[in-house]
Amino acid sequence: MSEKKESRDWYKEAVFYQIWVRSFCDGNGDGIGDLYGVYDKLEYVKSLGVDAIWFNPLYPSPNADYGYDISDYCDIHPDYGDLDQFKKVLNKAHELGMKVIMDLVINHTSDEHKWFKESRKGGDDNPYKDYYIWRDEPNNWDSFFEGKAWEFDSLRGQYYLHLFAKKQPDLNMDNPKVREEVKNILRFWLSMGVDGFREDVINFISKKEGLPNGIGFLPVIGSIHNFKDGPHIHEYLAEFRKVCDEYGAVQIGEGPMTTVNTALKYLSGDTKSMDMMFSFDHMTADCLFTEYLHRPFKLIRLKNALSKWQYKLAGKAWNSLYLENHDHPRIISRYGSEKYHRESGTALATAYMFLKGTPFIYQGQEIGMTNIKLSSIDQYVDVSSKNNYHKYHLKDSIEDRLHRIHVSSRDSARTPVQWDDSENAGFSRVKPWFFVNPNYKEINVKNQESDKESILNYYRECIRLRKNNPVLLYGKYKEYEHGNAFVYMYERRRGNISYFIICSFAPEKILFMLPKGFANHTAKIMLSNYPKKRVPGEIRILPEMGLKLSPYEALVIKMKRTK
Ligand code: NOJ
Repeated sequence: MSEKKESRDWYKEAVFYQIWVRSFCDGNGDGIGDLYGVYDKLEYVKSLGVDAIWFNPLYPSPNADYGYDISDYCDIHPDYGDLDQFKKVLNKAHELGMKVIMDLVINHTSDEHKWFKESRKGGDDNPYKDYYIWRDEPNNWDSFFEGKAWEFDSLRGQYYLHLFAKKQPDLNMDNPKVREEVKNILRFWLSMGVDGFREDVINFISKKEGLPNGIGFLPVIGSIHNFKDGPHIHEYLAEFRKVCDEYGAVQIGEGPMTTVNTALKYLSGDTKSMDMMFSFDHMTADCLFTEYLHRPFKLIRLKNALSKWQYKLAGKAWNSLYLENHDHPRIISRYGSEKYHRESGTALATAYMFLKGTPFIYQGQEIGMTNIKLSSIDQYVDVSSKNNYHKYHLKDSIEDRLHRIHVSSRDSARTPVQWDDSENAGFSRVKPWFFVNPNYKEINVKNQESDKESILNYYRECIRLRKNNPVLLYGKYKEYEHGNAFVYMYERRRGNISYFIICSFAPEKILFMLPKGFANHTAKIMLSNYPKKRVPGEIRILPEMGLKLSPYEALVIKMKRTK
């Protein structure tokens, strides 16, 4: 079977771990996660087998959007430490053999950034005058987080654009001075030694000329065609890519509502600016467009999305793989089962870790942290959850409205990491800044370290199996039994060696009929989340009829192909 050789860039063989520092580990005893805590836990992170860390924004920020409203791009938030402490973390990560990438948020700043404070003053000879998008009259766009996308500024006497919260004014990327500022930010961190960037809402940074009105009757998304993949996006990104290339830095784009076809423009050909893009399609298997529009989980939707990206990017671009991050509720609570916690947590890991691409693991995912259920909207802190609660479905009962927040809120994934069963889950010596999930007594790192079959140790197994395995890294993807509503099965093949990944999403025992031609083959079990039932390393003859799968059973088998 002929296959184009893929270039062997480091990030393709890496596994990333994402740290949302505020809830990771409190090292200085103020209830807030920080870089002192990170420093102490780097060996733990390394012990997972990961090769790189992505830090969510660490910069000074008034926290209107928890770090995504930056007031100084070239410093560290005092809650998290300082530049010296960051350098210590960076050096130690490098010594341990892990790369570090930062979050680059350049669609908007905080309204407390010096540039915005200056820009508000207006005046013809003000160098910051056109750093933001100012208009005498607003258009009809909605923001993603807080009502209309325009806010009147009484000092300047004009409206400014904010696609997200009011405290997140959009930068005017058409201004070459702003692009120079971005390049200076890139150089600042790259010359310190960071290895790349995850780039926030990067597909929104170029707005359509004249900022035309959107489709009025469609809330929020009605205007998106006026700023998504805008007219100059690829020119601007080429400028930034040039700087990153001087340092060999990796660039990973986050682009809400990115389709696989638009992603390819960022990832390949003349307009290639990104090494990977985060897809969103597979995040809607239990919702429509956003988690706030919840619908029951359907495996088929997940399979459609994953396979679409696998097939379309094949041979052209590299996938990024994730199930969780700081913007989505916890995956076991969504696509798995809190009842079958270990089984579904490990099945979900199996389903995505062996796809072609680079896996990202979000803090706490590796122990199967679940959604928190707070009893009042006032306990939530995320601007978008609050706005959603207060703006939509107002006629529903309080219980129903709160339920929507339980299943959709980003805060569900932002509770402190559960390190052990001591008070505050070992996250902090004092009361943490945010609620700890009450299930920390059972679900915590310490418990799982000592349990061979834990989700944590299973993640380690997945990473070990994937590592240095050319079939799992570069092999071709093929899905089987697509129509099966409960089982996700795919193959990774290179030459005559194939790995088959089989994951049941059923909460009961099922009989999975193997695809034609598979029965009676010898297969080696490489990984199983029921290790007593299917001992890894054992050679098995696949049954003629079918595999009896236990609830959320997952296995990886290796087979020699004869054709
Ligand atoms: C995407 C980030 O991941 C999210 O947390 C943030 O709120 C928005 N972009 C706006 O910056």
